[in-house]
Amino acid sequence: MVAEVQGIVSLEKGAPVSLETMLVPDPGPGEARVAVKACGVCHTDLHYREGGITDDYPFFLGHEAAGIVESVGPDVTKIAPGDFVILNWRAICGDCRACDRGRPWYCFATHNATQKMSLADGTELSPALGIGAFAELTLVAAGQATKVDSRARPEAAGLLGCGVMAGIGAAINTGGVGRGDSVAVIGCGGVGSGSIVGSALAGAGTIIAVDIDDRKLEWAEGFGATHTINSRNEDPVERIREITGGNGADVVVEAIGLPETYEQAFYARDLAGVVVLVGVPTPDMKIELPFIEVFGRGGALKSSWYGDCLPERDFPMLIDLYLQGRLDLDGFVSETIGVGEVEDAFHRMERGEVLRSVVVFD
Ligand SMILES: NC(=O)c1ccc[n+]([C@@H]2O[C@H](COP(=O)([O-])OP(=O)(O)OC[C@H]3O[C@@H](n4cnc5c(N)ncnc54)[C@H](O)[C@@H]3O)[C@@H](O)[C@H]2O)c1
Ligand SMILES: [Zn+2]
Ligand SMILES: [Zn+2]
Repeated sequence: MVAEVQGIVSLEKGAPVSLETMLVPDPGPGEARVAVKACGVCHTDLHYREGGITDDYPFFLGHEAAGIVESVGPDVTKIAPGDFVILNWRAICGDCRACDRGRPWYCFATHNATQKMSLADGTELSPALGIGAFAELTLVAAGQATKVDSRARPEAAGLLGCGVMAGIGAAINTGGVGRGDSVAVIGCGGVGSGSIVGSALAGAGTIIAVDIDDRKLEWAEGFGATHTINSRNEDPVERIREITGGNGADVVVEAIGLPETYEQAFYARDLAGVVVLVGVPTPDMKIELPFIEVFGRGGALKSSWYGDCLPERDFPMLIDLYLQGRLDLDGFVSETIGVGEVEDAFHRMERGEVLRSVVVFD
């Protein structure tokens, strides 16, 4: 039966988001309906609201979620009702040119639910990152629900569904951070802090956190940063060079999506180092760099989509590390809130007061 639920929708560009009645169809072939238990507020939700991603309003926001499978459609074999799952936006197709070449983390044809969720008047919703999870029930492609150990707290587990995974993966998968490396992370929100945690997990020797907010820097130390730089007060490029013996860091992660901080990342890395852009720019932004420096500094300038993760490989493994006390996901949960408080949470995010506000459903 079609379910009627209340969910957070962005109706028009720049306007505050609102709680709207929406219709969630029964799962069809290859789909699953999931009772959302918790969903984090990610900066990407705010990018959608501000028109920074596409103009396909209305958007059904929320995508960093964990929940319980409520029902599945025909042809679903990997998950069953009652399973505890983290939602993901990389349900690989297994058949595109990236998958065929053995690089499924780039999959160019990821699966989303075939049926559309809609507003009560039938207007189709565009679910954020093909998910939509600021509601007690959502419809996804079965491959978007990854089963993990049900002993994990949903508030913490859900964060692996986007920001924290993107950050961890940007450092480990895209940047290739390994034992003894020096790493600098510019922007220490949920994503950048994920890169700090990931670098610590991978055995980096020096982990430098850069932000303009002292609260974020304090939290970064808790996640394993060995040095912190408030780039409002000091030049981050000079300071990163100083900390790394005059050389620059082996890997620099940009986790904001601004031209000026990308430029800092470009100059703060060592020769032959790697810059990883995980922050998402807006369509109007441009960068200008001396071409000779692009050549002369060597190394690699990479972008990281979702931390180059493979949900089925990475989520259960990271949840196991969390349950063993080796990965602090709880530290990312600044507050739990009701579904009606997402707009306020955006403002708290903009003011830098939180790492993650997480909407919880009973
Ligand atoms: N690539 C991906 O797959 C992926 C996935 C999720 C999120 N993102 C993107 O990552 C970015 C960060 O997301 P988030 O949820 O962590 O956001 P956030 O708002 O929690 O964090 C941004 C951080 O950057 C800091 N900051 C802002 N301007 C700065 C400056 N000029 N210099 C230094 N620090 C500055 C802020 O103080 C804050 O701590 C966003 O662009 C988001 O869309 C990308
Ligand atoms: Zn594919
Ligand atoms: Zn996100």
